[in-house]
Amino acid sequence: MKSLVIIGAGNMGASLLGGLVSKHYDPMKITITDPSTDKLDQLQKQFNIQTTTNNETAVKDAEIIIFAVKPHIFSKVAYELASLIQERKPLVISIAAGITESSIQHWLGGNIPIIRSMPNTPALIGCGATALFANQYVNQDQKQIAESILAAVGITLWLDQEKLIDAVTALSGSGPAYFFLIMEALEQAGETLGLSKETARLLTIQTAYGAARLALESKKNTIELRKAVTSPGGTTEQAIKVLEKANIREIMTNTLLAARKRAEELSKESES
Ligand SMILES: NC(=O)c1ccc[n+]([C@@H]2O[C@H](COP(=O)([O-])OP(=O)(O)OC[C@H]3O[C@@H](n4cnc5c(N)ncnc54)[C@H](OP(=O)(O)O)[C@@H]3O)[C@@H](O)[C@H]2O)c1
Repeated sequence: MKSLVIIGAGNMGASLLGGLVSKHYDPMKITITDPSTDKLDQLQKQFNIQTTTNNETAVKDAEIIIFAVKPHIFSKVAYELASLIQERKPLVISIAAGITESSIQHWLGGNIPIIRSMPNTPALIGCGATALFANQYVNQDQKQIAESILAAVGITLWLDQEKLIDAVTALSGSGPAYFFLIMEALEQAGETLGLSKETARLLTIQTAYGAARLALESKKNTIELRKAVTSPGGTTEQAIKVLEKANIREIMTNTLLAARKRAEELSKESES
């Protein structure tokens, strides 16, 4: 098992750590760093991993380094570690939104195997969706290791072009918020129809969960599943007509286009 360092023990760093330990990654091979000794002590007690507030000490012998810091401090942390990383050229995995491979490569001094990934918030409960992109220095073994690391917090899939990360950001990265908004609207509509707040909330959440699980586990696609609920002359048919008339498909396309445009802008800002 490779020695692994996670830089940043925040939401994502700690979730990845929890996922890895639960999937039997050897805790003795994992080091996590953070400025907060309180956070580190808690994680050390919970998972029996190595911790340090010193990133340089942590990465000295690392074979894999995961950058789980916020995008705005990534360059500072990378510059500080560049000379150490150049010595051994470990696999670098970034989960930072909007930070391009070329930015990371530039900060680290070049020729480094880098995997850029885009997880989403359900990763916090092991239910994430992560897209991965590998640069030309990453070998097949390293791809497999990166995939198994991110698979500890959900499903993974590979992209063959980095620019598609912006589309992934628009779909699954920001996606949980679209579903939360739809759920919020459904709850309010349920209340308008006379249901209590709690009843509307529970029915909304369980319906979203049930629909997602059915879509994931059924052999039928979403069109077939929708048609199975929509009997001719029935209630669902009337409801779906309202959504189609309001151009739900165009709304979703415009939603993703807006998110992708912003993701592209943020990537350009990080490069300049
Ligand atoms: N949350 C998500 O769902 C999600 C989804 C996709 C991608 N991401 C990406 O994941 C990354 C982390 O996000 P997050 O939500 O986990 O953020 P977070 O909770 O703020 O975690 C970042 C952690 O890094 C620590 N840190 C700051 N400076 C550091 C340094 N020099 N060395 C080591 N650690 C340092 C922070 O400590 P302080 O709090 O003391 O500064 C914090 O504990 C971001 O780049 C984000 O774009 C997150």
